[in-house]
Amino acid sequence: MKIQLPEGIRLLHGGDYNPDQWLDRPDILEKDIELMKKAHINCVSVGIFSWARLEPEEGVYDLDWLEKIIDNLYENGIYTVLATPSGAKPVWMSEKYEEIRRVSSQMVRDQTGGRHNHCYTSPYYREKVRAINGQLARRLGKHPGVLLWHLSNEYGGVCWCPRCQREFQQWLRKKYGAIEELNLQWWTAFWSHTYQSFEQIHAPVDNGERDTHGLVLDWKRFTTDQVVDFMEEEIRAVREFAPQLPVTTNLMYYFTQYNYFKFKDALDVISWDSYPQWGPGDNSRQACEVALWHDVMRSLKRQPFLLMESTPSTTNWMAASRLKRPGMHLAASMQAVAHGSDSVQYFQFRKGRGSSEKFHGAVVDHVGEPVTREFRDVERLGEYLEKIGEVQGSKTEAKAALVLDMENLWAIEEERGPRNCGMHYLETVQDHYRAFWKRGISLDVIDEECELSGYKLVVAPMLYLLRAGFQQKLRDFVEQGGVLMGTYHTGLVNENDLCYLGGWPGEGLSEVFGVWHETTDGLWDGEKNSLVLENGKAYELSELCALIHLKGAKALGYYGSDFYEGEPALSVNSFGKGKAYYLAARAGEPFYEDFYEKLSRELKLPRALEEIPQGVEACERRSDKERYLFLQNFSGEEKQIRLPLGYFDLVSKEEKKEVTLSGYDAVVLRTTAK
Ligand code: GLA
Ligand code: ZN
Repeated sequence: MKIQLPEGIRLLHGGDYNPDQWLDRPDILEKDIELMKKAHINCVSVGIFSWARLEPEEGVYDLDWLEKIIDNLYENGIYTVLATPSGAKPVWMSEKYEEIRRVSSQMVRDQTGGRHNHCYTSPYYREKVRAINGQLARRLGKHPGVLLWHLSNEYGGVCWCPRCQREFQQWLRKKYGAIEELNLQWWTAFWSHTYQSFEQIHAPVDNGERDTHGLVLDWKRFTTDQVVDFMEEEIRAVREFAPQLPVTTNLMYYFTQYNYFKFKDALDVISWDSYPQWGPGDNSRQACEVALWHDVMRSLKRQPFLLMESTPSTTNWMAASRLKRPGMHLAASMQAVAHGSDSVQYFQFRKGRGSSEKFHGAVVDHVGEPVTREFRDVERLGEYLEKIGEVQGSKTEAKAALVLDMENLWAIEEERGPRNCGMHYLETVQDHYRAFWKRGISLDVIDEECELSGYKLVVAPMLYLLRAGFQQKLRDFVEQGGVLMGTYHTGLVNENDLCYLGGWPGEGLSEVFGVWHETTDGLWDGEKNSLVLENGKAYELSELCALIHLKGAKALGYYGSDFYEGEPALSVNSFGKGKAYYLAARAGEPFYEDFYEKLSRELKLPRALEEIPQGVEACERRSDKERYLFLQNFSGEEKQIRLPLGYFDLVSKEEKKEVTLSGYDAVVLRTTAK
């Protein structure tokens, strides 16, 4: 199900709007509309934390004010993303139904306060959420001004209450059937941790069981499932009265507590909140990090997504509230669109007067007039988005995929050895990503449950834990002609974190790579080895050095020092019609640069642009006939970019053969060339 865009609206521009904090100030509410229009805002998210206004007493609903707000927005050409209020519970509810308050891992129940802290299992909370969602949907779900449901807000956190634990036991019973099976899978004979019944199982806590890795993994899986289940209950409640309205929830940046890939099927639209730390000077490293997460969001459904929150300037929860440098608002916002977003939304429209976010960046500051730099930036961006509206709905075509698997991350985090001072899984994924990013090569970011068809290359660093039949998919992929890039620390354990017997990489992957991985040397911080290629070129290695034996693969490079000097450190194996590379140790940027430069040329991976100056990001989106080239300059310095094809600048409406981008400038160009 897609958002039905109203006539004349393409890219969404707006953000969180909290009129419930200003109901006693009709003058301000009126001013808001004037300012929204001035800022070219066409869409706001309403009701996110409004529960106390919507249901001031149990069972007493007041939606009149909300309807009036939505009516008024609509009459003024501004559309609504309507939130369900479950992200923060009213005080009366929290006090009356103690069970809805979360219990921490120290087994202490929360006091009333904060947000995002309800128990996802509590039947009371679920009942209250169903009821309020039903009220909202019945009254406003068919309002012509409402485009989309915004479920809750940033689902997050974990509850250890007795009820959650019982649910966990049920979940385990369903998964394993018999306790004996669980004991086998969790290897509980270790340290006499054998369970006699599911009722004995307690979620992992610091002063209890934390060493059974199968338990820790399953608890995290359960937590994700429980949140998705809660979300699905929210969806059912709104669908009952508004079956035509699509649903989203705002996901987060660098959020590893849940497996977001499990959310994708329940949602119609993916949206997320992005808060990078932009600063002065060259921001390209930061830009590359955010780019990866934009790509995660786009890849979840392989569809355009929405940037649901970003800040117009400062983010007050960071160590320091840096102002976005002049221009950065354009570059950062366009980066989202370039990677597949069909919106630029903010937290928030008007700055509140009190409490903990009163100094967070907002479109309208306490001064209340459109005179701030933030406001002008937003206004300019609104105009800009209107000019480039035709890019809405266009797709990103990725011929290569990068694997970032959350369950693999969880397992690596628990692992114990070979480097308790830092395995750096996410950083490693980022390192591989960077080489493609610099070359304007689009990547999908996928997990082990995703399909591989359609890709020429799959890059799967540190695939420690194999699950969901991924090994078979990789095997088939290579057999049929795909190229696989794997690394050290691959195929060590199965989905329950049990080590493979009979050699690594397990599950037949050893055959695909033509390599047997015997053991790993975990290096201290600062220690180095090197990878010496056949042609004598050397690259620095660090952190993890796998000692491998070739079983059919051909060595492309060798260790340069230590007792394993001269042993293979990089290899390639022909398998079926494809090839599988194996990098045995953690390399640095120079290696990834050279390696992927060569490989991407061999595979003819499409690039958005051939010559990309340092610090500039180039991305492409495609519609049926057109190709859109997005260039964002994150370098902080002026850059000149030559364009090989005839391009048309969507904003200046001129043909371009070359563009000059100052500091943090951006441009969107169109070509019909294939
Ligand atoms: C999150 C929340 C918002 C707000 C912003 C501030 O993304 O969803 O309610 O707190 O952070 O950056
Ligand atoms: Zn609970």
